[in-house]
Amino acid sequence: MEEQFKQKQFKRTLITTALPYANGPVHIGHLAGVYIPADIYARYLRLRGEDVRMIGGSDEHGVPITLLARKEGVSPQEIVDRYHRIIKQSFDDFGITFDIYSRTTSETHYRTASDFFRTLYDKGAFIEKTNEQYYDEEARQFLADRYITGTCPHCGNERAYGDQCESCGSSLSPSDLLNPKSAISGSVPVMKETTHWYLPLDQYDPFLRQWILEEHKEWKPNVYGQCKSWLDMGLQPRAVSRDLDWGIPVPVEGAAGKVLYVWFDAPIGYISNTIELCPDTWETWWKDPETKIVHFIGKDNIVFHCIVFPAMLRAEGTYNLPENVPANEFLNLEGDKISTSRNWAVWLHEYLREMPGKQDVLRYVLTANAPETKDNEFTWRDFQARNNNELVAILGNFVNRALVLTDKYFDGIVPPAGELSEADRQTIAGFAHIQTAIERQLDTYHFREAQKEAMNLARIGNKYLADAEPWKLIKTDPTRVATILNIALQITANLSIAFAPFLPLAAGKILRMINAEPFGWNRLGAADLLPAGHPLGKAELLFEKIEDDVIQAQLQKLADMRKAADAATYRAKPIRETITYDDFAKLDIRTGIVLDCVKMPKADKLLQFRIDDGLNRRTIISGVAAHYRPEDMIGKHVCFVANLAPRKLKGVESEGMILYAEDADGRLVAVTPEAPVQPGSEVK
Ligand code: 2FM
Ligand code: ZN
Repeated sequence: MEEQFKQKQFKRTLITTALPYANGPVHIGHLAGVYIPADIYARYLRLRGEDVRMIGGSDEHGVPITLLARKEGVSPQEIVDRYHRIIKQSFDDFGITFDIYSRTTSETHYRTASDFFRTLYDKGAFIEKTNEQYYDEEARQFLADRYITGTCPHCGNERAYGDQCESCGSSLSPSDLLNPKSAISGSVPVMKETTHWYLPLDQYDPFLRQWILEEHKEWKPNVYGQCKSWLDMGLQPRAVSRDLDWGIPVPVEGAAGKVLYVWFDAPIGYISNTIELCPDTWETWWKDPETKIVHFIGKDNIVFHCIVFPAMLRAEGTYNLPENVPANEFLNLEGDKISTSRNWAVWLHEYLREMPGKQDVLRYVLTANAPETKDNEFTWRDFQARNNNELVAILGNFVNRALVLTDKYFDGIVPPAGELSEADRQTIAGFAHIQTAIERQLDTYHFREAQKEAMNLARIGNKYLADAEPWKLIKTDPTRVATILNIALQITANLSIAFAPFLPLAAGKILRMINAEPFGWNRLGAADLLPAGHPLGKAELLFEKIEDDVIQAQLQKLADMRKAADAATYRAKPIRETITYDDFAKLDIRTGIVLDCVKMPKADKLLQFRIDDGLNRRTIISGVAAHYRPEDMIGKHVCFVANLAPRKLKGVESEGMILYAEDADGRLVAVTPEAPVQPGSEVK
C-alpha cells in the first residue's frame, strides 16, 4: 500500500489548466472539473513552501468563435475580448490563484506557436497531404465541418452539422450529410482540393505505449483507460492546419489562407504563457527534468493532452512530458448535461451576483461532488444541504462556539491548558495525523477525500465540545473549562490551515477571528498553535444558512431557461400526406358544451365527458386527466369529431373525439370556438 504513495521527488511544479474557449462565460462544470482542483493543488504546494507556477489563459481560436462572431455580426476579436474579460474576472472572484492568466491571441503566443510549428516542419516531422474538402464558391472559402449543414443520414434531422448531429448524437463527417449546404452563404458547396500538414501520430505509437501504459500506471483509471483505448484503436495522422481566416497563419511559404489547427496552438499556450510570466527562466519550467508538469483538464481533452501534445513535444525533442494528467469526468446539472448552447448551466458571474460572498460555498460543494472518477451531479437541493448541514452546522458552528465561549468566559483571551484528561488526550491524538492524511489524498489527486479529512477535523472539534460541555462546568470548575477551550481554540487554528487550500475566504476569516497570521502548513496537527494569553479577534459568522426560497428561485431560473431553450429549438412535426377535399369533408366536426366531467375509475389518464351536442347528450372519453381537472372542464365549449365510430374504453362507450392542440412538451390544450356558439354548430 505504502508503495503506491511513493513519489518521485521534483524541485518545482508547473501546473497547467485547460484553456477555456473564449466564446462564452465559465460555469460550474469548468470550476469543478479543472480550476478548483488545480487551485487546491497549487495552494497546497505553495503552503508547503514549494516552488510552483499555475498557468492559465483563454483559448481564443477555433471555428465556434468565428461562427458566433458571424452570428452577431462582429469580429472574432471582439468576441474573444469580451469573454476573455468575463472569464478572467470569474476566476479572480473565485480565488483561482493563477500566476498568469493570458490568452492565445497574445503576441508571445503567436510567436511561440509559429516557431514550434516551424521547428517541426523543418525537422520533417509532418506529412503533407492533399485531399478534397467542401468549398463555398460564393464565400470563396473552404468550409470547416461546423460550417456545413445538411440532413442526418441516421435520423433525418435537417439541421445536422458536418461533424455531428445534435438531434441523435451521431458523429458525422461532412460527406455523410445528405443535401449539404454552406452555413455561410447557404449555397451548395463543391469538393475542391486542399493541402494540409499532418502529424503522423501512428509513428508515435510505440513511444506512447511505453510512456503511458508502462511508465504511468499510476494515472487515474479513467485517464489511463481512455489512453489505452485510443492506442488500441490505432492512431491515425492528424491534420494540424485548417483553411480558415481566424488563427495563427501557417508559417510556411504558399500557405496563404491556412492557419494552425486550434488544438495544435492551444496546448502550446501553456508554454507561451510560461514565457510571458518568466521570460528569463521559462525553460527551467519546461526542460529541466526536475520540474514536475501536471495538466488539469476535463475528460474531453484527454486525447489531446496525453497523446497529441506529448507527440508534438516528443517531435520537438527538448521539452519534458507531463508527470500526470489528473483529468476529471463531467459534472451534470439537475439531471442534464451542462450545455452552453442550451444555456443549461450555472454561470459563475451570475452565481456571484445572486449569492454575493458565497464563493467558498460553491468551492466546497463542487469539491465534495467533484466528478473525479465518474460523472457527477450538481443539484441546488444538495448545495443547500451541504451548506446548511456541513458548512453551517459543523464547521461554522464549531468555530463560532469556540470563539463565543472564550469571549464569554475569558474575555476573548486564550485560556491556559491545565492538566489533560483522557478525552483531551484522545482528541489531540485524533488530529495529530491530519497533515499526513490530507497530504496523502492531495498528493494522489483525491481532492474530495482530502476535503473530507479537513471537515473531519471540525467534526472532532464539535464532538469534543458536545462531550465536554464546558457551559455546564463554568460555575464549578473554571480551570477545566480553560483547558477545554484552549483545546477547542487549537482545533480552530488548525482548521485555518487545513481549509486554506479548499476554502481560502473562510480560512482567512478564521485567522481574523483568532487574530493570527497564517501558520505554516507543517504546523497542521499541532496542539500549541495559540499561546495562552493571546487575544482573539471578533467572532463573525463563518457561513449562513441558505433558506428554501433562495433555492426555489434558482430552480425556477433553471426551469425558465429550459422553457426558453425548448421554445428556441422547437420545430413543428412535418406535415402529413396530402388528402383530398372529399377526405376532409367526411369529417363531421361540431361544437358542444361540457355538461359534466369526471375522472374514470381505475384509469389514471382518462376523463369521461357528458356533452350537449345540440341534438342529444353523448359520452366522450379523452386521455387528458394529466392536463385538466374535471371540474374545470364543466361549461366549456369544445370541438369534437361527431361521426367517429364509437369505441369502448374501460367498459364505457366513447361517442366521438374532443380536439386538443399538443405542444412540444406534450401538453394538451382543448380547442374551443373563439366566441360562444350554439352547441352542435359545424366546424368547417
Ligand atoms: O476544451 C476546451 O475548452 C479547450 N479550449 C481546451 C484547450 S486546453 C489546452 F490545450 F489549451
Ligand atoms: Zn441524427
